[in-house]
Amino acid sequence: MTPLMRRLLPEQVEVTEVRGELAAPPLFPEEAATVARAVDKRRREFATGRRCARLSLAALGCTAAPLLPGPSGAPDWPAGVVGAISHCDGYRVAAVAHDRDLAGLGIDAEPAGPLPDGVLDAVSLPEERADLARLTSTAPEIPWDRLLFSAKEAVYKVWFPLTRKPLGFEDARLRFTRETATAGLERGTFAVRLLVPLPPALIRAADGGAVDLTGRWLVGEGMVLTALTLPAAGSGAERPA
Ligand SMILES: CC(C)(COP(=O)(O)OP(=O)(O)OC[C@H]1O[C@@H](n2cnc3c(N)ncnc32)[C@H](O)[C@@H]1OP(=O)(O)O)[C@@H](O)C(=O)NCCC(=O)NCCS
Repeated sequence: MTPLMRRLLPEQVEVTEVRGELAAPPLFPEEAATVARAVDKRRREFATGRRCARLSLAALGCTAAPLLPGPSGAPDWPAGVVGAISHCDGYRVAAVAHDRDLAGLGIDAEPAGPLPDGVLDAVSLPEERADLARLTSTAPEIPWDRLLFSAKEAVYKVWFPLTRKPLGFEDARLRFTRETATAGLERGTFAVRLLVPLPPALIRAADGGAVDLTGRWLVGEGMVLTALTLPAAGSGAERPA
């Protein structure tokens, strides 16, 4: 498949993304046991997500080992590694990086259709809905509501491993910018302002500064993809903007 998530992430990130399922490498028994009682669809997305993660971790130089979910569901990445997994409608992706390069990494994939009725109000701030109305009037072909939802999921995947605390949809204010579409792909960036007091882990990771993060988004091949990275303090890693 055309690499899509790869385009949204800095070069220090190892990304494995697939359409459909991967049959190898085999899961570790401990990994398979965590979804043994799940429905078939869930077992398949979990297995391919883990296989993508294994391939990405190998590219980073990590030895193969079980990647088990922690109590919250977040993968228990090997020491020294940050990462994230996402799956939607036949697309699976895992991205990992050394924590000396990135302090946080969040990715999300969603089908490129509008959110079900009623969901937008539950996941957005009034000022975000006003932004979305303006964006929709100039670019109605982009599912801005789905994009907002996806970007907030990516924010959460950066937030949670650093803080181990919940973050509500009302706790982050996102603003979207659209770039020129190329090769059939709509692309752009999103600015993230966290509206809650920042925990020390996040302040340290942001090198003591305010955490105003910039993520990237893409719409193409029937999907919405979002990615957000937080450079490690003093890493000099490329900011995704
Ligand atoms: C956890 C959550 C972010 C997953 O996103 P999703 O769009 O439902 O599903 P995705 O396929 O993109 O991602 C699922 C993967 O997320 C990872 N994940 C699960 N819980 C996680 C957590 N607490 N932190 C980080 N990653 C997590 C797992 O790897 C999971 O896949 P796996 O179980 O196969 O390993 C979402 O279900 C959720 O709980 N959201 C509510 C919190 C939120 O988004 N707040 C908004 C803040 S602005």
